[in-house]
Amino acid sequence: MATPVDLEIVPRQLNSVLEDCSGEQNWAGDPVTSTFFASLSATFTEGERFLIDSIRYYERKADSPLLREHIKGFIRQEARHSRAHVQMNEWFLKQGYPMEKAAAQAHWGIEFFRKVLTHKAQLAVTMAIEHFTARFADAVLTNTRLMNGMSPTMRDIWQWHGLEEAEHRAVAMDVYKAIGGGHFYRAFYFIVGSFLFFSVLFLIQFTLLFKTGNLRWPVLKKGWRTMWGTEPGAHGMAKQMINHLYFDYLRRDFHPFDHDYSQASEQISERLLAANVFSFAQPSSKQVDEEELAAV
Ligand SMILES: [Fe+2]
Ligand SMILES: [Fe+2]
Repeated sequence: MATPVDLEIVPRQLNSVLEDCSGEQNWAGDPVTSTFFASLSATFTEGERFLIDSIRYYERKADSPLLREHIKGFIRQEARHSRAHVQMNEWFLKQGYPMEKAAAQAHWGIEFFRKVLTHKAQLAVTMAIEHFTARFADAVLTNTRLMNGMSPTMRDIWQWHGLEEAEHRAVAMDVYKAIGGGHFYRAFYFIVGSFLFFSVLFLIQFTLLFKTGNLRWPVLKKGWRTMWGTEPGAHGMAKQMINHLYFDYLRRDFHPFDHDYSQASEQISERLLAANVFSFAQPSSKQVDEEELAAV
């Protein structure tokens, strides 16, 4: 497979505001699922900037006008995600999660990535993280049990994010191919990237569980069964994400568009548009557009 030539990567203006649902609870009272989403949100504010920087570094080497357009769309989408997660982290803070500590841990982890990895390795790790976020998008777009366990505004914002992750899922790989990146290097940094990314993520989740008094065996056991899908009524998100996570990506001929998200994306997109969760209103002037990119 390859990226469709008619693909347009268009940022969606998020209209929902999380303040509207302060006081609502996180995922169906399960602290493990709730802290997993809070941990992801904590990593996204600064993590999205890491993804943008790693791709922007190679922007000039993209010789195809279509790829340059896709890079621009990718940067604008991720910039908006980063800002949305600042808002979401404040909401988690109101819910009693120590998000300053989580943000500090995410900052430490991402700075470590920047220091120890070359630019090419950062791009390869970005490609790996984009694959994780594409699998995550699959979960938030299709897992009804998971999404029905959230407050409606929280659900909508994750699905808005998931729509765009599915849309731009191949940009990092297309840039990597444009600079002549090979299969072994991609596979190696997928393993390295998995280790680094999940280490930071689980360190944050461990902290959030500990600080909220949920680092207890019965809570962890029930939470894990919920994540894996063996608890009655569980969402099974972990099992769903791991499905296709490793073996597909490590194939020499893997391309992110091997996985089809179109049906779920269309349905969710229609629902969110009708509910005015997002709109396609764009900055009309080139200047506003450039200012938005420069502000990242
Ligand atoms: Fe994102
Ligand atoms: Fe992304």
